[in-house]
Amino acid sequence: MLQIDQLHAHYGLAHVLQGVSLKAEAGEVIGLFGRNGVGKTTFFKTIAGWLRPTGGSVTLDGKTLTGSSPDAMNRAGFAFVPEDRRIFPGLTVEENLMMGLLGRRGGGSKIHLESVYDRFSRLAERRKQAGNTLSGGEQQMLAMARVMVAEPRVVLVDEPSEGLAPMIVAEVFAIIREMREAGTIVLLVEQNIHEAISVCDRFMVLERGQAILTGEGDDNDDRKRLLEVLAI
Ligand SMILES: Nc1ncnc2c1ncn2[C@@H]1O[C@H](COP(=O)(O)OP(=O)(O)OP(=O)(O)O)[C@@H](O)[C@H]1O
Ligand SMILES: [Mg+2]
Repeated sequence: MLQIDQLHAHYGLAHVLQGVSLKAEAGEVIGLFGRNGVGKTTFFKTIAGWLRPTGGSVTLDGKTLTGSSPDAMNRAGFAFVPEDRRIFPGLTVEENLMMGLLGRRGGGSKIHLESVYDRFSRLAERRKQAGNTLSGGEQQMLAMARVMVAEPRVVLVDEPSEGLAPMIVAEVFAIIREMREAGTIVLLVEQNIHEAISVCDRFMVLERGQAILTGEGDDNDDRKRLLEVLAI
């Protein structure tokens, strides 16, 4: 189980994350919603080890990981897909995927890569193509595929649908469902609430660095409150 307890973070004197808590079991997808600048990305950066928390704790299956480096968080089973996707531009599709295999607990294998190509035929066709020559949608697929080969326990996905065509957006959400089926915990930040809510088991709305609403994805009253609080 992932347990985040009263997490705080600052940028200098700015107290951006003000005590956010969350619990998730294997195979749960949790949506994190909120207006621009409320601290969603900061929450992910703080969990992923990019930003040192100034309070609170992060534990996975009882193991305390608070304040660990990004590398240590990867080894502990966390994968972060940031908004800019972080494809290695000079590396080919295959080399990018190999980087995912490096992050895999217990080491990687070529066989595993083939199963990824079976799943992502567009990437298979482009395995020798440089990362920066892929379309936006293909880059998002590569970012998700690279996470899948690492077989993480917890995936943090920041606005994966941004700038993508509806068909690719549907594909991204299908991948998130597959991750859930595989028992992965997915924390999902999305502006695309109507699409995102249908893959979320639970959700949380942030406002000025704090949770102002939590609910269940398939509960009609909770959904209504979600739309009200976001004024959409
Ligand atoms: N590196 C930084 N240095 C200083 N302040 C920052 C930094 N990164 C973010 N902030 C500030 O922290 C607050 C939260 O930013 P964050 O990126 O977490 O918001 P967000 O909810 O992800 O917004 P968006 O929906 O626009 O992506 C904002 O006020 C932002 O200006
Ligand atoms: Mg953000």
